[in-house]
Amino acid sequence: MKTRNLFCLLPLLLLLIWSLQTSACVAQSGQTPITIRVTDSVTNTPNKTYSTSVKCRGILLGGMRRLQETSSDFTFTYSENADYGPFLESVNGLAGSDANQTYWELLVSTCDLIRPDVGIGCYIPNANDMIILKYRTWSDHSKK
Ligand SMILES: *[C@@H]1O[C@H](CO)[C@@H](O)[C@H](O)[C@H]1NC(C)=O
Ligand SMILES: *[C@@H]1O[C@H](CO)[C@@H](O)[C@H](O)[C@H]1NC(C)=O
Repeated sequence: MKTRNLFCLLPLLLLLIWSLQTSACVAQSGQTPITIRVTDSVTNTPNKTYSTSVKCRGILLGGMRRLQETSSDFTFTYSENADYGPFLESVNGLAGSDANQTYWELLVSTCDLIRPDVGIGCYIPNANDMIILKYRTWSDHSKK
């Protein structure tokens, strides 16, 4: 097959993948199950792992709110940035700090570890994603 023909098929393929994903989460009563892991590379607090879900094609922030409502053990705060949307400020009482050069990083572990280029207000989790909220310092950027 010519490459040009392949390019014509690409949108169709993407549509197919999208509709398969959508029907997968509709089949599970409209909820996409995810795991949220809170990990802290600065103070070395032990990891905490929680199960929650997002609505079908819903944003991560929704799943975090659902978890906060149902678990006495998970809290978070965020601020609204005019340009970039919700910005994660603190998790379980620990806040990022300019003075200490620390912040909460969003990572997603599927087969690989990915660093989404969008925040909690835009990231749409896939079924069984492990969302990692990692407390880290500005300077340890090269480490995972
Ligand atoms: C804590 O979670 C991180 C991110 O998933 C992982 O790399 C690390 O090995 C975990 N630490 C322990 C002690 O399980
Ligand atoms: C900065 O780090 C110190 C030592 O870990 C801690 O006691 C202090 O509360 C932190 N400050 C902020 C604003 O987070």
